[in-house]
Amino acid sequence: MIKGNQLYEGKAKVVYETDNPDELLVYFKDDATAGNGAKHGTIDGKGVINNKISAFFFKQLKDRGVKSHFIETVSAREMLVKKLDMIKLEIIVRNIVAGSLVKRLGLPEGTPLAVPVIEYDYKSDELGDPMLNRWHIMALNLATIDEMNQIEHMSLATNTIMRGILKAKNVDLIDFKLEFGRFNGEVLLADEISPDNCRFWDTETHEKLDKDRFRQDLGGVEEAYQEILNRLTM
Ligand code: ADP
Ligand code: TMP
Repeated sequence: MIKGNQLYEGKAKVVYETDNPDELLVYFKDDATAGNGAKHGTIDGKGVINNKISAFFFKQLKDRGVKSHFIETVSAREMLVKKLDMIKLEIIVRNIVAGSLVKRLGLPEGTPLAVPVIEYDYKSDELGDPMLNRWHIMALNLATIDEMNQIEHMSLATNTIMRGILKAKNVDLIDFKLEFGRFNGEVLLADEISPDNCRFWDTETHEKLDKDRFRQDLGGVEEAYQEILNRLTM
């Protein structure tokens, strides 16, 4: 595989072309943002850890029937993935009330939800990623009903699989954000699965082991990311 031109630089990753038009190289940065870019910072070693955690989850999901863009880990900060036609949605799955849901529902952080809740956000930095429902998604031609059904099925399967893996490591999966894309007519899971886009709490102490430590200036950010990697892989 030969690394080609830079295709895109985002807030957390850089995407490169390769000599294969169907494959991309994703480079994980240490940069961190919060509040739609309002807060900027660096989390030392985050790129290396998120590359490892994402590869771990994509492999586990593949073994259990959830297909993703992941092909292989290439270096400490790089993974090779299938080049997808990205669906401009962020799919959020919630098990426990936290983050923006605290205000929206007026419930205390930590309140369990009776069933997992799926939300759609429009992936648009200019608009601040507004929440959409299925009707907006159809009206804007972002995805078909069949694609939304596949996305919801794969998101709930991902939730069940991740919760099981994490539970055995004494970690509760509070909520997370996924992205999907199309490859030869098939919907595949994409982007990353890491403490940047998941909320992980220690089951006993409820200590936050994710990006909320950065968002809320709680300290111990690097240590929390490393702790999740250690629990998953050691
Ligand atoms: P953002 O764009 O939100 O700042 P990142 O810094 O994480 O995010 O950049 C990674 C970009 O690559 C995102 O826009 C994401 O949608 C996109 N992406 C992720 N996986 C793939 C893929 N397999 N094919 C094409 N694009 C992808
Ligand atoms: P929220 O409570 O702020 O809406 O976030 C829900 C989950 O989605 C949480 O795990 C963080 C993740 N998330 C992202 O990864 N990117 C985003 O842009 C947003 C809004 C949330």
